[in-house]
Amino acid sequence: MNKSNPSASYRPHHHQSDAPEQKIHQIRIGDYLIDTWYNAPYPEEYSKRPILYICEYCLKYIKSEYTANRHKLKCMVKYPPGDEIYRDGIVSIFEVDGRKNKIYCQNLCLLAKMFLDHKTLYYDVEPFLFYIMTEVDSEGCHFVGYFSKEKRSLLDYNLSCIMTLPSHQRKGYGNLLVDISYLLSRKEGKPGSPEKPLSDLGMLSYRAYWKTCIFRQLLQAKDFISIQDLSSKTGMTFDDVIATLQLNHLLRKDEHGQYFLDFDEALIKHHLDRVDAKGYPYAQPEKLTWAPFLIAKTALGMLNVVRDGSSPTTATAQKENELPAPNKKKSPRRK
Ligand code: ACO
Ligand code: ZN
Repeated sequence: MNKSNPSASYRPHHHQSDAPEQKIHQIRIGDYLIDTWYNAPYPEEYSKRPILYICEYCLKYIKSEYTANRHKLKCMVKYPPGDEIYRDGIVSIFEVDGRKNKIYCQNLCLLAKMFLDHKTLYYDVEPFLFYIMTEVDSEGCHFVGYFSKEKRSLLDYNLSCIMTLPSHQRKGYGNLLVDISYLLSRKEGKPGSPEKPLSDLGMLSYRAYWKTCIFRQLLQAKDFISIQDLSSKTGMTFDDVIATLQLNHLLRKDEHGQYFLDFDEALIKHHLDRVDAKGYPYAQPEKLTWAPFLIAKTALGMLNVVRDGSSPTTATAQKENELPAPNKKKSPRRK
């Protein structure tokens, strides 16, 4: 499945589609034709056809190839409808507010559902922020994946749902999205964890991410490092730090019942060398232009969302002064 052969399709071995009731078998998004994994509750008239066309910029879903081609000519949007908060090489990430861009976010949730086996929200997008990862070229910012995050999480979740389009999986993008979610947590000054339950792929990705993250900290530590240090340096919760240490057999008990860290530096280094050799992208804090949301309760008991720090936020200020995408034209939403 690549741009030179857009009709090629993809279906991972570990996933069974929801057939027989599944009607949308494939989606065409940008140059990719992708096999769907699960059903999504699109309106009936859209679910009847085997291929659903999705605009890679505004995420509008379209029934026929003819209408999709016409939409492509008319659609002036070339990047997601929020603030660009991160740019590194060809990767650009936008923050989209579910309240301000409801239809875009609802369309995104429907798209994501085709690759998520557990139930997700589709319509109640307002309490969430969506972080959209794109690949930038001279045409615009092409959708690659995303994660969502509650504006206010009572359970300290720093990520609700994550998805990389199958056409772009196993290239390190999921890892980068997770890394960004922890970078945001560190900026907020409070550790976070992904919303449970995790899918099988979510679990595999998180375990790989956590292991590498903790290993890096252990290698950097001089003499002594505590669970608290590991949590504040990574943004991971105590529970996730401890679970990762246990899973990798790094936590031992002495004769007094006290836990201590026991690891072989050479093995840790060997693991990190293998990971680094893959050349996956990591979140670079200096490339993030973002300030945390603060939720303020007004005298009327209404919830107001305001930005931490000066106003406008660095992210917004950047958006006004800088081109997030090569095409500066901005058009009103079309759906
Ligand atoms: N098989 C084995 N290991 C895997 C797989 C897989 N199919 N996918 C990811 N991993 C592990 C590997 O260790 C991988 O590193 P490697 O490629 O060096 O071996 C690591 O995770 C990171 O892989 P990435 O390339 O960074 O992740 P990717 O871009 O493929 O995205 C994601 C991972 C988002 C989970 C993707 O598989 C996806 O969108 N799945 C469908 C939706 C989903 O299940 N989302 C998680 C739901 S749980 C939640 O949202 C909180
Ligand atoms: Zn469009």
